[in-house]
Amino acid sequence: MVISCWGSRVRNLLRMKPVVVFVLGGPGAGKGTQCNNIVKKYGYTHFSAGDLLRAERSKEGTQYGELIGNYIKEGKIVPVEITINLLKRAMDDTMAEDPTRNKFLIDGFPRNTDNLEGWNKIMKNNADVKFVLFFDCSNEICMERCLERGKDSGRTDDNIASLQKRIHTYMQSTKPIIELYAKEGKVRRIEGAKSVDEVFVDVQKIFDAENGIGNL
Ligand code: C5P
Ligand code: MG
Repeated sequence: MVISCWGSRVRNLLRMKPVVVFVLGGPGAGKGTQCNNIVKKYGYTHFSAGDLLRAERSKEGTQYGELIGNYIKEGKIVPVEITINLLKRAMDDTMAEDPTRNKFLIDGFPRNTDNLEGWNKIMKNNADVKFVLFFDCSNEICMERCLERGKDSGRTDDNIASLQKRIHTYMQSTKPIIELYAKEGKVRRIEGAKSVDEVFVDVQKIFDAENGIGNL
């Protein structure tokens, strides 16, 4: 008991403030693909808000499973109370296990004003948002990529009807959030229409230029 108490105190002392990079862009803009590359090269821990929501939806007997499923199919943004808890728990668990793992890529968040307010309320003082990586890609290419992915993704929202709604949500709700961060000088824009390898070259330029953040 005494030992485990000291163990948790030492872990808390070692705990560093999380450093966060938000990753935004339309559906199919390349967020997840490039996050995997960034994890390999720069040692970030990657959490996709969409993946966390899909996992929560699939759990047995979860309180919010049906709600999440409906929102995803409709391309709507799930209330932040649900999403922020999933993100916070994922980050807390990571750092509890290894306090030095404090660099996070949070992909697909904040997607609207509600997401941003939820983040500010729960996380703003507990994490440093370094910048927003923005994959800029035309709606046509986004749509094409997701329809291609939909052939074997098994996702309920990689179909034309859902994609039209997701793109609408992106234009109406997410773009203004990117613009807000741009006004603070926090957006690093990437041309997302190029090939995966070409995009990663541009991504590396950004991470290498961020005062060694990538190489912490
Ligand atoms: O990012 P991804 O394409 O995986 O997101 C899929 C869906 O998950 C979104 O269209 C939305 O319904 C839901 N989502 C959300 N809030 C977020 C991220 C994703 O409601 N912050
Ligand atoms: Mg994704």
